[in-house]
Amino acid sequence: MPDVTLSPVTTADFPTIARLADSIWRSHYASMISMAQIDYMLAGRYTPEKLHRYLESTECWMQLLKVSGVPAGYCSYALTGIPGEMKLQELYLLPEHQGKGLGKLMLRHVETEARGRGCAVLTLTVNKGNANSIAVYRKAGFTIREKAVFDIGNGFVMDDFVMTKSLTA
Ligand SMILES: CC(C)(COP(=O)(O)OP(=O)(O)OC[C@H]1O[C@@H](n2cnc3c(N)ncnc32)[C@H](O)[C@@H]1OP(=O)(O)O)[C@@H](O)C(=O)NCCC(=O)NCCS
Repeated sequence: MPDVTLSPVTTADFPTIARLADSIWRSHYASMISMAQIDYMLAGRYTPEKLHRYLESTECWMQLLKVSGVPAGYCSYALTGIPGEMKLQELYLLPEHQGKGLGKLMLRHVETEARGRGCAVLTLTVNKGNANSIAVYRKAGFTIREKAVFDIGNGFVMDDFVMTKSLTA
């Protein structure tokens, strides 16, 4: 594997994260949700104010992945408030970096962090139409717990599966 680093985001990384999200989301989600919804979600999630949360809070984290020094993806995770439960919030790679084991590397990092913080369960939500990612999560030991529709405002919903993995097995 080439030189791969995973490091906590800093303020200086915020434009990079927003740029990665823009590129990955527009190519990946175009077949699943409308461009209007993608615009809405990108505008809401990747502002400096929202990203600052990862620097200030002691309950959520975001990591930037670089390959040979060049940004390639990111992941984030947060305690859910349910004792012993961590949520994988985001796991994203540029298309040219997918399918090479880097998603697994980030997933392993999140699992290690969750275990280190005493969590027994890792949970996530994934769009029902996101078949490749669902397959990746199944491969990693997640199972579907339930279907869930989340109202995210402006008339948009997220039609998701909730998947979970026991970290104690
Ligand atoms: C989801 C994502 C992060 C996964 O990362 P990745 O680097 O592509 O996946 P990996 O190469 O690490 O594959 C992990 C494992 O899943 C397997 N896998 C990958 N795609 C698969 C598929 N379509 N079907 C079955 N298995 C698959 C791999 O063979 C590998 O198996 P292994 O454990 O035996 O080695 C990445 O593809 C991505 O960014 N996708 C677009 C954004 C997205 O949907 N993110 C998730 C939002 S919930």
